[in-house]
Amino acid sequence: KLTVKDLDLKGKKVFCRVDFNVPMKDGEVTDDTRIKAALPTITYLSEQGAKVILASHLGRPKGQAVDELRLDAVAKRLSDLIGKEVVKTDSVYGSEVDEAISGLQDGDLLLLENVRFEAGEEKNDPALAEAFANMADVYVNDAFGAAHRAHASTAGIAEKLTSAAGFLMEKELSVLGKALENPDRPFTAIIGGAKVKDKIGVIDNLLDKVDNLIIGGGLAYTFVKAQGHEIGKSLLEEDKIDLAKEFMKKAEEKGVNFVLPEDVVVADDFSEEANTKIVSTSEIPSDWEALDIGPKTREKYAQIVKDSKLVIWNGPMGVFELNVFANGTKAVAEALAETEGYTVIGGGDSAAAVEKFDLADKMDHVSTGGGASLEFMEGKVLPGVEALTNK
Ligand code: 3PG
Repeated sequence: KLTVKDLDLKGKKVFCRVDFNVPMKDGEVTDDTRIKAALPTITYLSEQGAKVILASHLGRPKGQAVDELRLDAVAKRLSDLIGKEVVKTDSVYGSEVDEAISGLQDGDLLLLENVRFEAGEEKNDPALAEAFANMADVYVNDAFGAAHRAHASTAGIAEKLTSAAGFLMEKELSVLGKALENPDRPFTAIIGGAKVKDKIGVIDNLLDKVDNLIIGGGLAYTFVKAQGHEIGKSLLEEDKIDLAKEFMKKAEEKGVNFVLPEDVVVADDFSEEANTKIVSTSEIPSDWEALDIGPKTREKYAQIVKDSKLVIWNGPMGVFELNVFANGTKAVAEALAETEGYTVIGGGDSAAAVEKFDLADKMDHVSTGGGASLEFMEGKVLPGVEALTNK
């Protein structure tokens, strides 16, 4: 697989796919982490004298132009961060784009409109891939966060041009790849989030690799039920109880320390004002719902994290958006911040959690991919990555 360093860039037009799918509010970018993460590649391309044509999606406009999902605010933020003008087109391809590209000097930057305004993007339509390829001499993919999508700007175009991975793509793949293929031990994975259904693949794959698999969040209660306890009104996926049993059996066979909450915070309501109490996981009252891990569990999880050489975390331990149920997630985030082991945060909610607790800087790697890092940890080959290696 080529990387940007392998390319001769001077005077070349480079189509660079980035993941600028950033949170926005009232037309402003509210979190520019993903823009900052792409800067090393963009700066390098520009400094090497390329004409840089950037492309990204934002949200899910489903093939229609939606004004709230235009990339103007993103172009502005990029321009502020990089200290250079960024030309922004209002279309994804066509005459406006062609003219803008022909006006670029070596080192200049251009950002296309949201590629998902074109229905062909998500369909990986060869005609759109061709239109993208025709804009440029080479293709660089730095959009790790979108690498699990086989779309025209993440996969189709790569078949038509010399293609290379950007620095962010390279870093994500090497950190996550090393963690899964050649982990320092003890290796601990912490899997949380609401549903077993979303984490089946990742639990299954990690059971072949880790020393400790820690479970938290809503999905824990289906496991607790599978252990034979009553869980009151806590989240239950009835149809996943057998699978939960199989996972616990697999853990035993593989010698993996499979760790479930010992105590929990239960509440009589899903709200900040709820009455709460701490109970043992085997004594959840029938009218109450577990919404966070309890203090004993927090301590136990923190200890395992501190004794680990490598920790991967995906998914919160409780409903951390509500302060009353944030302590479990916070304790795990703090333990990761303090441990001497190498810490990897799978994107999405866990990345949002470390941001919320202001601990992102204390982690060794916070992935910019949500779905992409999850699929990577499931052991899947990401189409956007595969497209780069296929030629
Ligand atoms: C993400 O935010 O996970 C990526 O940008 C992909 O977005 P998508 O789930 O809308 O494809």
